[in-house]
Amino acid sequence: MSEQFADRTGAGTAVDEGPDAGDMVVVEDLRRTYGSGDTAVPALRGVSFSVPRGELVALKGRSGSGKTTILNLVGGLDSPDGGRIVLDGTDLAGLGDDALLALRRDRIGFVFQSFGLIPILTAAENVGVPMRLRKVPPREREERVELLLSLVGLADHAAQRPGEMSGGQQQRVAIARALANRPVLLIADEPTGQLDADTGLAVMELLRAVVRSEGVTALVATHDAQLLALADRVLELRDGRIVDAREADTP
Ligand SMILES: Nc1ncnc2c1ncn2[C@@H]1O[C@H](COP(=O)(O)OP(=O)(O)O)[C@@H](O)[C@H]1O
Ligand SMILES: [Mg+2]
Repeated sequence: MSEQFADRTGAGTAVDEGPDAGDMVVVEDLRRTYGSGDTAVPALRGVSFSVPRGELVALKGRSGSGKTTILNLVGGLDSPDGGRIVLDGTDLAGLGDDALLALRRDRIGFVFQSFGLIPILTAAENVGVPMRLRKVPPREREERVELLLSLVGLADHAAQRPGEMSGGQQQRVAIARALANRPVLLIADEPTGQLDADTGLAVMELLRAVVRSEGVTALVATHDAQLLALADRVLELRDGRIVDAREADTP
């Protein structure tokens, strides 16, 4: 294999058909104000950044700086007042409600601080929910559920309900569920915020590992220093603006 060919196919290597071809997410001059008139809260005041394919990008910033607002917009859960979001080559502004719903279901995996599992379903059933929504045949669904539970180290806990699992185990189930439909982008909002330090570290290392093994891209809001250290790059938000964009020094 020629040197040049190897370079062009390397994981995370930008392709060269256009300026944004290597980026999974491109955000330009994003603005979002909640409410109006005297009570208007400008949550984002012109935010621009990009997330290269295959990278884990962390958004840091104190509470109220706009992290959740960005994740909701990039995930198609909310619409901006201005600016542009391009996800995997698709401009979200051009999508109707049905197309947005399909994009969220098929191409994005969400992980929340509070896990968001359905209490009456087992771990396996929770992981299977996104595939049910896509009408994946039962056999195929069951096989993938088993594989995903193994991936997150919970093969032996398939029949347990969330209330019968620790916080760290519940978040691992939530990560497995987020990967169910083979998303191109994982969006995680303070995924370790409710976990103790050791459990949080294990969950972060799992996220870091799946970004590599599943070839998924991740955008993660956190103020956890250990998670920031595992990121490929860190964007810092302050009062709805990015104040610092640097590449993390990863080995
Ligand atoms: N639904 C809402 N209605 C009004 N203000 C909101 C709403 N959601 C967030 N905000 C405000 O927008 C700003 C950014 O919030 P958020 O994106 O949740 O920040 P973070 O996730 O970094 O804590 C804060 O001032 C917050 O109070
Ligand atoms: Mg938040």
